[in-house]
Amino acid sequence: MFGQSVATMQAAVSPRVHFQVASTYDAGAEIRRAALWGLAQTPKQIPCRFFYDAEGSRLFERISELPEYYLTRTERALLEAHAAEMMGTLGDAPMLVELGCGSSYKTRLLLDEATRHGEARYVCIDISDEFLHQSVHELSTAYPRLAIEAISGEYGPALPLVPSHSHARLFVFLGSNIGNFTTGEAVEFLSRIRSIMQPADALLIGYDLVKPHEVLHAAYNDSEGITAQFNLNILCRLNRELGANFQLDGFWHEAPFDPVESRIEMWIASTREQTVSIPGIDMTIGLKQGERILTEYSHKYTLGSMANILESSGLCVQRTWTDPLNWFAVSLVRGAGART
Ligand SMILES: C[S@@+](CC[C@H](N)C(=O)[O-])C[C@H]1O[C@@H](n2cnc3c(N)ncnc32)[C@H](O)[C@@H]1O
Repeated sequence: MFGQSVATMQAAVSPRVHFQVASTYDAGAEIRRAALWGLAQTPKQIPCRFFYDAEGSRLFERISELPEYYLTRTERALLEAHAAEMMGTLGDAPMLVELGCGSSYKTRLLLDEATRHGEARYVCIDISDEFLHQSVHELSTAYPRLAIEAISGEYGPALPLVPSHSHARLFVFLGSNIGNFTTGEAVEFLSRIRSIMQPADALLIGYDLVKPHEVLHAAYNDSEGITAQFNLNILCRLNRELGANFQLDGFWHEAPFDPVESRIEMWIASTREQTVSIPGIDMTIGLKQGERILTEYSHKYTLGSMANILESSGLCVQRTWTDPLNWFAVSLVRGAGART
């Protein structure tokens, strides 16, 4: 199925687009494995990467336009104001490597810079296969001077497939995607990126900062209920892909801020005592009234706490940009000891 979508992509888009699938990623097997493990834990949990089927990605795009969701527009304003400086050190024929690119909406500001004086390469990695196809199609039309290599799959198996380049590469990790990891996982993940960075390569990382709790709470509990739909979409996915019988009216969305861990926690709570069968993994689960399934962490940082994470990963901050309210930060980061 993946192989077929690769062929379709190359024919339908353009000879410049090279679409490859992270070879060790099998979406069906991954969701079975994650559900089997996560729903047997206390508390029950489903990792947030399973939010992102085509519908989940579309819902995330709607979230990013919500008035309460300051993250996207604040980060975009930083990129808009400073894209030239962020890209400045890369020189000719730059290559951008984006992890979890989604629609690449904000990245276009960097791509505008990258293609301003000539050709550039864009390697984009995302787990949401169908949405990635669509994004790449649109980018290919908008950027005739851009060679695009899309890798559909999870970060881990995708990273070894990132091509080398004769000039410096800029790794790009936006949207505070890093916040979905615990501190230990973040250090492990960033260390992996560090291990494949060449001395001239850099990493541009966007991360959300600690701010008044009511602002954080509103961002993940929007008045239109789009974040709730996004959260509950994970149950629709289990129904569709594993034949489960989650009744959506038996669950609600909760997203409290935990000040001790400095993170929003996203949960799906059961409104009643109920039993759910999941034939795809031969499992039946019981849920008590009020019992919760954990779906996502979204950590909030200070400049200092992020600098510590980066330092523990063998990286050091070269430059940081923040907005006037200090709500969001984008840092340009290099390997510790690498030349600038
Ligand atoms: C919060 S969205 C951010 C999208 C975009 N970078 C932005 O800043 O608007 C997270 C993106 O990362 C992708 N993603 C999440 N977990 C992933 C994983 N483990 N491996 C690859 N992609 C992942 C999702 O499909 C989604 O497009």
